[in-house]
Amino acid sequence: MIFSKKAKKEIDIWIDKYPEGRQSSAVMEALKIVQAENENSLSTEVIAAVADYLDMSNIEVAEVATFYENYNHKLVGKHTIRICHNISCMLNGADDLVVYLEEKLGVKTGQVTKDGLINVKKVECLGACVGSPMFQIGHKYYENLTKKKIDKILVELK
Ligand code: FES
Repeated sequence: MIFSKKAKKEIDIWIDKYPEGRQSSAVMEALKIVQAENENSLSTEVIAAVADYLDMSNIEVAEVATFYENYNHKLVGKHTIRICHNISCMLNGADDLVVYLEEKLGVKTGQVTKDGLINVKKVECLGACVGSPMFQIGHKYYENLTKKKIDKILVELK
């Protein structure tokens, strides 16, 4: 098995939220939990393990894992900066901040920094438009971003 007993327990909590026989409804949370244990990435083996655990076919799990942006399929940095570039964020300077992040980190979006710590990913609206421009790292949202705020956040990540 590619995920730990602790991960199974966490997945079981989600499975218990659904009627018996509907364990597949926990697939998104299961993928999130298992991804966190596998260097923030979902290999075909990991997807197969989740499918096996939820009594689903591999392709059903792969369809979910490849549809949503919150799942990774190649090795990414320890921290993924998911910067929104949708309309509100774009109008409030997200494009400039993407360029700033790329220059500051020495990578293009989708690449991982040389120290393996950070990658930047452009994503669609994260539902925090009122705080635009914004990005997400892990479960935390950082809103009303400025270059100065980004500098401080990057220092805290290292
Ligand atoms: S447009 Fe960026 S959070 Fe909605």
